[in-house]
Amino acid sequence: MSKKSVAVIFGGVSSEHDVSLASAENVINSIPTDKYDVYKIGITKDGRWFKYDGPTDLKNSKWESHESCVSACILPDRAKKGITVFEKDGVKIIEIDCVFPVLHGKNGEDGTMQGLMELAGIPCVGCDMISSAMSMDKAVTNTIMDYAGIPQAKWLAVTKYDYNKAADSFLKKAEEYLGFPIFVKPACAGSSVGVSKAADFEALRKAIDVAFEHGNKVVLEQTIVGREIECAVLGNDELQVATPCEIIPGSEFYDYDSKYIDDTTKIDIVAKLTAEQVEKLKSLAKKTYKALGCSGMSRVDFFVSDDGLSMFMNEVNTIPGFTQISMYPKMFENAGKPYSELVSELIELAIERSK
Ligand SMILES: Nc1ncnc2c1ncn2[C@@H]1O[C@H](COP(=O)(O)OP(=O)(O)O)[C@@H](O)[C@H]1O
Ligand SMILES: [Mg+2]
Repeated sequence: MSKKSVAVIFGGVSSEHDVSLASAENVINSIPTDKYDVYKIGITKDGRWFKYDGPTDLKNSKWESHESCVSACILPDRAKKGITVFEKDGVKIIEIDCVFPVLHGKNGEDGTMQGLMELAGIPCVGCDMISSAMSMDKAVTNTIMDYAGIPQAKWLAVTKYDYNKAADSFLKKAEEYLGFPIFVKPACAGSSVGVSKAADFEALRKAIDVAFEHGNKVVLEQTIVGREIECAVLGNDELQVATPCEIIPGSEFYDYDSKYIDDTTKIDIVAKLTAEQVEKLKSLAKKTYKALGCSGMSRVDFFVSDDGLSMFMNEVNTIPGFTQISMYPKMFENAGKPYSELVSELIELAIERSK
């Protein structure tokens, strides 16, 4: 059987650019080279696309100034299916069988890249355009969860325009409906960027201003007291859910630093839950995945109350982290699926979906 060509796209115009580099490094190193030829396509923080042939140590390699970089792009024109590369001796097209976007957050995990691949007719790992877009926007996700009857924290959303028109009445409504402390998040971000917990009005005002630095819509949520449990879901129609893990943040909540910088966060790769709780979470994770129309993969994150009786869906990550410390691949590894097998399965799922 001839080898398939896969283009791994990394970096991107996103506050999670650096996390993407760490994730992509692992993905690239895990793609079995006896089955696939791998092309590395990097997008700089300001949105330039390059084909890159340097070391896969992306975080430390200053990849964008590497001598191998040549401009490259994927055109929506299906007659030019593949990567269009602007080599010194002319424009070439490299045929590819699949794109693996290892991009987190805006301009990559949010349906934009998926939409481009749909136009181009190129199979793309992970969720399609619409499910990526819906899962990226926490206000849209929450609306769909309410509609599907999936339990979650009480929430409110507000746009910058509406907030600026009537901030005081919105703050009062938030206090009455949600009660302090209130979690404030940009509707469309990730890695806890712009997320804060506000204990009073003054902190709430500040938190909302911080969240608006990341976009025009902000979500406020009632604070859930409980444990943070993550579920890894894999598949198009037939779904596999790995045994859930637990995140025990060292800081007040699972913020950016406790995710990537300090090492205070503890992980229980198999969360201490009863068999019944595990089944309930797996079933809620599948229901969430289906309600949002996900395919390929997603990590569905929950809170479980300390008494174990209540479960709340928190958010869906359609391109979960693949860094050295990321839970999605670890949960499957723990379930007996090594990293390279997982990555191959994701590629094959993308190709299968496009047929
Ligand atoms: N409603 C909530 N109640 C309690 N903690 C929350 C709530 N929402 C978010 N958090 C905390 O903030 C972290 C980041 O929020 P999350 O919604 O997961 O955003 P992100 O997409 O940035 O990861 C969560 O992992 C959790 O620690
Ligand atoms: Mg999260």
